[in-house]
Amino acid sequence: MNVVITEPSASPVIQALRSIGYTASTAISDLVDNCLDAEALNIHINFEYGNADGIITVSDDGSGMDEEMLQTAMNIGSKDPRIRRKANELGRFGMGLKTASFSLGKRLSVLTKFNGVYYERCWDLDHVSECNSWELFTIIPKEIKEKMGTIKGENGTIVSIDKLDRFMRAGEKRTLKETSFYNKVSKINRHLEFVFHSILQNGNVEMSINNKKIIPWDPFLQKNQHTIEGEMQILRINENRIKVQYYILPHASHLTEVEYEKAGGYKGWRDHQGLYVYRENRLLYFGDWMGLFPKDAASQLARVRIDLSNDADADWQVDIKKSGVNLPDEAKKRLEAISSIARKVSREIFYFRTQSTRSDRTYKGSLNTWEQSGREDGPQFILNRNHPLLVELLNLMNDEQAMLLNLYLKFIQLGSPSNIVDSPKVSEEVLQEVSESQKELIIQFATSMMKLDVAENKDDLLNILITQPAFDGLNRTTMKNIIEGEGLIE
Ligand SMILES: Nc1ncnc2c1ncn2[C@@H]1O[C@H](COP(=O)(O)OP(=O)(O)O)[C@@H](O)[C@H]1O
Ligand SMILES: [Mg+2]
Repeated sequence: MNVVITEPSASPVIQALRSIGYTASTAISDLVDNCLDAEALNIHINFEYGNADGIITVSDDGSGMDEEMLQTAMNIGSKDPRIRRKANELGRFGMGLKTASFSLGKRLSVLTKFNGVYYERCWDLDHVSECNSWELFTIIPKEIKEKMGTIKGENGTIVSIDKLDRFMRAGEKRTLKETSFYNKVSKINRHLEFVFHSILQNGNVEMSINNKKIIPWDPFLQKNQHTIEGEMQILRINENRIKVQYYILPHASHLTEVEYEKAGGYKGWRDHQGLYVYRENRLLYFGDWMGLFPKDAASQLARVRIDLSNDADADWQVDIKKSGVNLPDEAKKRLEAISSIARKVSREIFYFRTQSTRSDRTYKGSLNTWEQSGREDGPQFILNRNHPLLVELLNLMNDEQAMLLNLYLKFIQLGSPSNIVDSPKVSEEVLQEVSESQKELIIQFATSMMKLDVAENKDDLLNILITQPAFDGLNRTTMKNIIEGEGLIE
């Protein structure tokens, strides 16, 4: 083969790696992702200011690494992004540890413990530049190692970054003063309580920053009784399933001043509306409608949660920093339908048109009687089963009554003029395939018709069944087969 090995020159590669656009907050989040991937339950982040420099450490009690794993981990691009990741894994490109760290400072030290044995490695970009070669130290400088401390359990990892030129804005007129340094830390704190809120709320992971516990910030105010929770919808985008659910936050009059301030998030109410994209429960993107709609004041109560698994990375073009995604074309129409409902409800509440009259209840769902399903197959419009009136009614009924009402509602939904589609005619003789759920519905309906004496004999019953819009497309032979199979009628 006519090839010649051309090693990339170290210095320019370093500069490029350092400049892929992390902020301090996205960099720290990426390091935390690694701890979570290693199944850590306790993650401590520390920022220490010192003499126009500082040191950042991220310690975890996760799996740790043996020597070979550590050596691979320190490689730039240690994993092929095309390889399928474990379920729930947050990593992707095999770059984060290095690129995130180098965007903060020039020295990255990793001390890790695996089954009781310590291993260590250290990148010093000053050294790499000097010798213009990727020489990795196998020991961490003593003064840094002292600051890193020890790992208590049998397994765990401490990542430390110093020579914080970028973080300290060295090279500019003034480097960070101590107060600005800690202000920056508070900002990172707010970012983490947001990005990892779902992981912190759902699991038993604990995180702290400078010994202060990170309290999850829930953008959907799920605990507030005035929050309206839309029904969760599962969409299939290409091969992958995504979950979509909208939340409408309470009108300002239902929040105290403190709650209002807090719910506005660190960017303010207007810039927290829109789509919130999560990958494996970790927030990737938020802040607007991703080009589907413009931001406006009346929609600021609407926040739509989208959950992806890491299988969907290619569809959504998740970037290295895990702070950017692209809406796939296949998802646009359906998200637009769901978002437009959310925006409408937000507008109503924002202008006070929909007000809950009872304050002792959480409304799970909107006050619309009908909602757009956002589905291409199946009914276009679905009845809102969480409507408070309906919920109340069902509460007052006994099981038999509730069953009949539910059956009736199913027929209203299936028979609604907007849901009827013309089914192709089928020959009367063919026995058609019927799904279990549809079969069940037919039997339930037929049984009720008999009980109520609407149908007296088999012919009556069949005539009723085949003229129901809900069963449109099923022929007499199929119907007959079902009711005879059930022995409903002689
Ligand atoms: N805190 C940690 N605990 C255990 N292993 C880690 C830790 N941080 C990094 N690693 C290992 O280093 C590898 C490379 O990390 P990284 O560069 O962030 O890439 P990625 O997360 O995309 O795999 C990880 O796949 C993991 O095996
Ligand atoms: Mg990573």
